[in-house]
Amino acid sequence: MENKKRAFSGIQPTGCLTLGNYVGAVKSWLNMQEEFDCIFSVVDMHSITVRQDPAALRKRCMEFFCEYIACGLDPEKSILFFQSHVSQHAELAWILNCFTYMGELSRMTQFKEKSARHADNINAGLFTYPVLMAADILLYGAEIVPVGHDQKQHVELTRDIAERFNGVYGDVFVVPEPYIPPVGARIKSLQEPEKKMSKSDPNPNGYIWVLDEPDVIMKKIKRAVTDSDGEIAYREGKDGINNLLAIYGAMTDKTPQDAAKEFEGLGYGVFKERVGEAVAETLAPIRDKYNDLLKNKDYVESVYKNGAQKASAIAYKTLRKVHKKLGFIQR
Ligand code: TRP
Repeated sequence: MENKKRAFSGIQPTGCLTLGNYVGAVKSWLNMQEEFDCIFSVVDMHSITVRQDPAALRKRCMEFFCEYIACGLDPEKSILFFQSHVSQHAELAWILNCFTYMGELSRMTQFKEKSARHADNINAGLFTYPVLMAADILLYGAEIVPVGHDQKQHVELTRDIAERFNGVYGDVFVVPEPYIPPVGARIKSLQEPEKKMSKSDPNPNGYIWVLDEPDVIMKKIKRAVTDSDGEIAYREGKDGINNLLAIYGAMTDKTPQDAAKEFEGLGYGVFKERVGEAVAETLAPIRDKYNDLLKNKDYVESVYKNGAQKASAIAYKTLRKVHKKLGFIQR
């Protein structure tokens, strides 16, 4: 246990957990749990950089947390917690703010995109959000940070901040590495297969929610955008079919190319049915487990309270060291 490498990752409780998140993120976390000392957080503090309705946020936070467990994240193996339950995140973020430059933050692609999309609410939190993310990672000495491709820049900034701090105060922080899932694990939107499947897509036909019922899954797959050449093959220019092959492959542990061979000569209708069945079959046990958790609120509460306690113990040690280095009087 002691000499396992540590991994940290977080998911924002926005939109809903999709098949894309499951294949691209959660599934690789399941493997990581066996090999690493893992910490996974529902990063609720990150989500308030845009306005949230309190009741909806509360519901979504709990939903994401239960979905984590239902997907197989195991509180016996990994630490699972809500970011806002561990106050050290905000405390370290303030300190790291003093080691991050305005110029660095203004270069962040996500900041540029989000400030364009929410022009009426370009708040300071949106600007310093990567610093909070750096605090999330550095508090736990995480060596590995599994993230989507869009978060790579933030992990690189985290490395720069860590190295800058270490340069002044000695080896305080572990400098983390991003782990980006392979391209094959990137599931695209069912409606716009050139874009990634987004958990915040306003059109629910674009994504499959991990808790969608089998008939809904089938309907969404049948409506998925394909092409008109009628050939099931994995090749450039066939975004819609490639995506369905990637989905089928992810559900059955095959490469999309092998999946394509399996369906050679068949029509799109039959193909879509098989893809829909494979997805429904994979997600059924997740939905069952989720429904059990709903009936077991005390258990869920014990998991997140326990998780926060364990996380906090680790985070406290790091923060204490940082305070000492900075010259703060020890508490
Ligand atoms: N910013 C990440 C995202 O939007 C979520 C996140 C917050 C995160 N803190 C993290 C991911 C720390 C990895 C590590 O997807």
